[in-house]
Amino acid sequence: MTNEPTSPSSGPNAVGKTTAKVPLEPNSALAGKTTTAAATRKRSVKAVAADSSPLMNRRGWMGLAWASFAAATGGCLAATGRFMFPNVLNEPPQQFSIGFPNEYGDGVDERWKDRFAVWIVRTPFDVVHESAGFYALLTTCTHLGCTPNWLSAESKFKCPCHGSGFRPTGINFEGPAPRPLERAGILLGEDGQIVVDKSRKFQWELGQWSDPASFLRV
Ligand code: FES
Repeated sequence: MTNEPTSPSSGPNAVGKTTAKVPLEPNSALAGKTTTAAATRKRSVKAVAADSSPLMNRRGWMGLAWASFAAATGGCLAATGRFMFPNVLNEPPQQFSIGFPNEYGDGVDERWKDRFAVWIVRTPFDVVHESAGFYALLTTCTHLGCTPNWLSAESKFKCPCHGSGFRPTGINFEGPAPRPLERAGILLGEDGQIVVDKSRKFQWELGQWSDPASFLRV
């Protein structure tokens, strides 16, 4: 009976397992090398010293350059995405119903000014059409495009930007506005409601206010 040392892989559980050969001689490549804790500390100090070397600084700059490149590329992609999917503008419709004629009294009605940018005017007598009826005035000043205010006490539209004034008919009479306010198309819908059609515009100076589409007789 021999007392040979047994490795962990030589027992009954080692069936089919590969047995690694443990070199019995010291590795010649490691000859003369120290593996003590002091040597490990020495290597750490060398590594720290290497971190602050010019080589490490170059790596830092390279990293910064790559980060900048990635940020610029991302910005370009984001801009391209915005171009491909532009913001949707929710413009108010050009044609809309504004209720029944009997819901309006004579004079300027401002209920659709903010939403549709029109004043609805009911007149007992229109000089152009020689009839009672409705017309729709666009709320855009013909000087530089500001929105005038309706001053009921003075019975006029007054632009706050440069002082242009307009009669309830839309005719300009003071300030720099070169021409009257424009009128929009107006008609009676099938359901009996008034319909304003802003896709059609009528200019007084072009003789367009006499167009039947610019006035709703009642
Ligand atoms: S924009 Fe109305 S007066 Fe100038």
